[in-house]
This record gives sequence, structure tokens and C-alpha cells, in this order.
Amino acid sequence: MTARFHNPVDTRFGWGSLQELVSLTENQKVTLVTFPEARGLGLVNRIQDLLGDRLVHVIEDVQPNPDVAQLRGTYERFWQEAGDCHTVLAVGGGSAIDTAKALIVGTASGAFDELLSLLATGKPFTPPRSKLLIAAPTTAGTGSEVTPWATIWDAASHKKYSLHLECTWPTVAIVDPELMLTVPGSVTISTGLDALSHALESVWNINANPVSDTFAVSAISDILECLPLLSRDLSNKELRSRMALAALKAGLAFSNTKTALAHSISYEMTLHHGLPHGIACSFTLPLVLGLAWGHDEARDRTLQHIFGNDLHRAQDRLRNFLHSLNVKTEFADYGVTATQAQQMIDFAMQGARGKNFIGSRAA
Ligand SMILES: NC(=O)c1ccc[n+]([C@@H]2O[C@H](COP(=O)([O-])OP(=O)(O)OC[C@H]3O[C@@H](n4cnc5c(N)ncnc54)[C@H](O)[C@@H]3O)[C@@H](O)[C@H]2O)c1
Repeated sequence: MTARFHNPVDTRFGWGSLQELVSLTENQKVTLVTFPEARGLGLVNRIQDLLGDRLVHVIEDVQPNPDVAQLRGTYERFWQEAGDCHTVLAVGGGSAIDTAKALIVGTASGAFDELLSLLATGKPFTPPRSKLLIAAPTTAGTGSEVTPWATIWDAASHKKYSLHLECTWPTVAIVDPELMLTVPGSVTISTGLDALSHALESVWNINANPVSDTFAVSAISDILECLPLLSRDLSNKELRSRMALAALKAGLAFSNTKTALAHSISYEMTLHHGLPHGIACSFTLPLVLGLAWGHDEARDRTLQHIFGNDLHRAQDRLRNFLHSLNVKTEFADYGVTATQAQQMIDFAMQGARGKNFIGSRAA
């Protein structure tokens, strides 16, 4: 049994850990990137109090699923008005963290379209300038605080770009479950399912190894137990903490494996059927479990450790779990016919993430 695991993010976890910002940003100029509700929730003032005059710039209009249409202006204003700051602090869900990852990659001209052209080549590049990133997630879902990836959407052209450079690993992740207390029920569920999908996708993955499995298995059992309880008791601090830790563990797992088929399918469902990311990447999990089973002895052992030896019971368990959270699990529920679904699965198998799926070798 061999394994190689690498994650360079200095990770702080715990209730109230946002306070660590004070020691982490000494002598630095900081730009805050956050979500629109943050000011009303008192979060912007709290960060202002912690950082004082180190806080030189605030971007607080980040919309869900960062899209080129909005990012272009935000990016160019950031480099013009705060190009001399050291650190970008993202406080928010995956949308704020991924926006911050795009902002820290500086182009020579300061133009956003130069970054897009580089991303369109799909090849790695070294940006002429970049900033440090501190990521403090306010949702328990994406794991973006411990991964180098950012998804940049172009809804108008039905496209998405994937940003991934050495400099887009956050320097520090501050996972403070207290920041998640205000997440509404529907977002709590969809982000929690995103985390479940990360953990499962890291198991049925050609890049899986015993270290990523350790994080994944622990995350899956926590999420299966905690998420239904939390969905009925949103102000429960212990459940918020357990889900925050589970999403972090899922993030650590897929930081080394990347995602697989369910995510590859999800991009089509988000771009063409408007499904929120967490639902798009989780409603197919029972189906993908069936496609994963029986391809690789080691992967089967890990899946059976979680779900037992009977595939149908395992799929039923996942399906019932999703139904209990009011998530529908069939393509037809989302207006996709059986033929369209099969075409979508075949197409997704050939995508970059689909090729990580253990079942794609047999397809
Ligand atoms: N980089 C990665 O590895 C990775 C992984 C998965 C998803 N993503 C990306 O992350 C984005 C989705 O992120 P998300 O699921 O965290 O949702 P989000 O960041 O879009 O937030 C969802 C909604 O919840 C609100 N919100 C966030 N935190 C809140 C809080 N504490 N209290 C009240 N409201 C709050 C936001 O304003 C928004 O309206 C997508 O763009 C997706 O592509 C990235």
C-alpha cells in the first residue's frame, strides 16, 4: 500500500478562530472579499475591528457562482485601486473564495480578458504578480479553502473555466463554524451535499489513496449522520461544528484526488438546467455509486466499509438520505429525458473530471 498526500494550506479550525486574523495579518495591507449579506450580519464591521487600518479595500458584492460578466469589473477595479495590498481575505462561501482566487492572479496589463485567454489555453502559466490568500469559509461545503481550484462561470456562453495555479492555494484557511450559524436551511443542505459529493468522488477516483480515503470516509459518515439533524436545527452549534469539520475533511480528500463523474455531470446541469451546484453534483450520487461498484477491489472495499456489501441497499440508503432532505434523485425530476441523461453521462465521462472516475476506464 503506498500513498502520497500534499496540501500546503496552513489550516486553523475552531469556534472563534476568525480572531487569528489579527496575528496572521501583522504589517500587511488587506483586501476583504465577501458576500452581500455579510455587512447586514455584522461581519464586515467585525473584520474591520479585527484588522483596523490594515483593511484597505472591501469587495462585498460577490454573487453566487462567480461569472465573467461581473468578475471583469471587480478584477480591474481591484488591481487599479488596491494593487499594492499584500493579502486578499475571502470571507464567504465558495463564490467569495473562488472570486478571491481569480483576483490574486495578476496579469501584466491588469486586464481580466488577458487572464481569461490564458485560462482558455488550459495550460499552466506563471502570473507576473500575485497576492497571498487567506480563506475563511462561511458555508460548510466547497472545501475551496484547502484546494487550489476556482470555477469561473460564463453563463451567457454556457461555458466554465477552471483556474488552478501554484499561487491559488490559499496560504491560510480559517475554518470558524461560528461564521456558518446564519446560513439559511436550503444553502445549508446544498452546500453540505456538495461536501458529501467531494468525499464520495474522492473515493471512486483513479487518484484515491489511503490518506485521501481516511479523510473521505470520516467526512461521509459525519455528513450522513449530521446533515439531516442540522437541517432541522440550524442554530445547533455542535452540529454546525461537525459539518464544518466534515466539509474540511472532504476538501482535504479531494484536494489530492480532484472530483469525478458526478461533478462532470453537474456542470451541464448547472449551465443548462440552472441547478445550484450542491444539488447538481449530488442528485446523481446513487446512480454514480452503481457505476463505480465492481471496478476496483480497493475502491469496493472502501465503499463497502461505508455502505455494506449490498449495492442495492447502498444505493437505497443514499437515495433515501437525499429524499429526506427534499432532493430529487432522478434526471426526469429535472426535465431531462432518459436519452438526454445517457448522452450527458457519456459526455461527462470524457470530461477532465469524468476521466478521474474509476468506471470511465471501462466505458
Ligand atoms: N474551488 C473549489 O474547490 C470549489 C468546490 C466546489 C464548489 N465551488 C464553487 O463554489 C461556488 C458555490 O459556493 P457555495 O456553495 O459555498 O455557495 P455561495 O458562496 O454561492 O453562497 C450561497 C449563498 O449563501 C450566502 N451565504 C454564504 N455564507 C453565508 C452566511 N454565513 N450566512 C448567510 N448567507 C450566506 C451567499 O451570499 C449566497 O447567496 C460555486 O461557484 C462553485 O462552482 C468551488
